[in-house]
Amino acid sequence: MGIKVAIDGPSGAGKSTIAKALAAKLRYVYVDTGALYRTIGLYALRNGADTKSAAEVEPLLENISVKLKYENGAQQVYLNGENVSELIRTPEVSMAASDVSAIPAVRAFLLDLQKSIASENNVLMDGRDIGTVVLPDAEVKIFLTASAEERAKRRFEELSAKGDKSTYDEVLSDIQKRDYNDSHRDIAPLKQADDAVLVDSTSMSLEQVVEKIGEIIAEKTRKRTGIDKIKPLDKSKCKKVNPVRVFFYDILRVIVWTAFKIYYNVKFEGKENFPKKGSNIIASNHRSMADPVFVSIPARIQCSYMAKESLFKIKALNPLIRAFRAFPVTRGSGDTSVISTSVEMLEKGYNLVIFPEGTRSKDRTVLKGKTGVALIAAAAKVPVYPVAISFEGKLCFRKKVIVRFGKPIEPDEFEIKSGSPRELHAMKERIMSEISALVEKNYEQL
Ligand code: DC
Repeated sequence: MGIKVAIDGPSGAGKSTIAKALAAKLRYVYVDTGALYRTIGLYALRNGADTKSAAEVEPLLENISVKLKYENGAQQVYLNGENVSELIRTPEVSMAASDVSAIPAVRAFLLDLQKSIASENNVLMDGRDIGTVVLPDAEVKIFLTASAEERAKRRFEELSAKGDKSTYDEVLSDIQKRDYNDSHRDIAPLKQADDAVLVDSTSMSLEQVVEKIGEIIAEKTRKRTGIDKIKPLDKSKCKKVNPVRVFFYDILRVIVWTAFKIYYNVKFEGKENFPKKGSNIIASNHRSMADPVFVSIPARIQCSYMAKESLFKIKALNPLIRAFRAFPVTRGSGDTSVISTSVEMLEKGYNLVIFPEGTRSKDRTVLKGKTGVALIAAAAKVPVYPVAISFEGKLCFRKKVIVRFGKPIEPDEFEIKSGSPRELHAMKERIMSEISALVEKNYEQL
């Protein structure tokens, strides 16, 4: 299921221009539902029907097939196989569309088509009843309006540029008539949904409206990622881990390091990138059970780990796991408390080890990764150290292992403005691609 954005409003408020610009920016599918009504209007006109008469229009529906296709990113509308995208843009068809849209059978005919498009994609759909009838559960609802005079002025300029001879007064009167029709019909009249945000574009430029609606979408979809529920990391509270702890941890680290060097033929690469202080995220690919140790040895400050909930079920292991600052995560639960615990650990000064793939990979392939890592990094605004652990086949005695630390990605390198799913996805992709590049380097040496 994708994200649904509904933009409703009267004719000429700029819905389609704005929705198109936003859809391109956000990579959503833009659905101009007015085009569907226009297509029925065109068919009714071509067949000499009275466009206001349900008795004349309804029987025509049986012979109509309307399809939306996307060609080079632009919506094209097909009427019985014919591309009518341009033909439906005349003032005559506009009025016919407004007429036929008041006929219940026409609305029912187009409803399923609109719903099915929305169920398959992230959509930005514009129309009159999107927020109220077609997508009542849309994540974002906008009601875009402007004064009738301003809308007439814009439409008049648009039509004149196309060579249309209509006068300003004719365009204004058309708009007023359509406003009246669209908001006074019995079925699905044009009206603002209770939960829609009103945007009046009368004295705003196109760019300003795009920006404003973009912000509303970002703000509303941000809630879906759960980022707003997370208490952000308070840098002033970030503690230095107690020096006595650091001392004992150092001793332990050297012992484990030595043991690992004896048991495995392990090489640590990228020494200049080893984290010297705490409160960093260490994001690594996942190859074996020994990985938490491999990635923690180079960090002077103790690490904290996310561990599978099942590990905590083995009661005897619990004290040990907890001593290693591990905390449980339920896979795919979308549980924001895990994120909050992660931020807390960073606040306490620990480094946080994350394996974004969520599961071990069997070879050099780096799996897609989950966005959780991006969510934590975005909420905490701490550096992310990409790490790659590589070895051939299975991990065993004297196996050659390369553990490579990459340059940290600093928080300001990520363009996180709102924490929207799109931004977090891009951030996760960046982290995963750095890990993949390090894996490739490892294989040059294996
Ligand atoms: O947005 P537009 O001007 O292309 O729409 C043409 C007509 O279609 C409009 O006058 C009202 C009708 N319409 C509707 O009733 N419901 C929609 N969701 C979209 C358009």
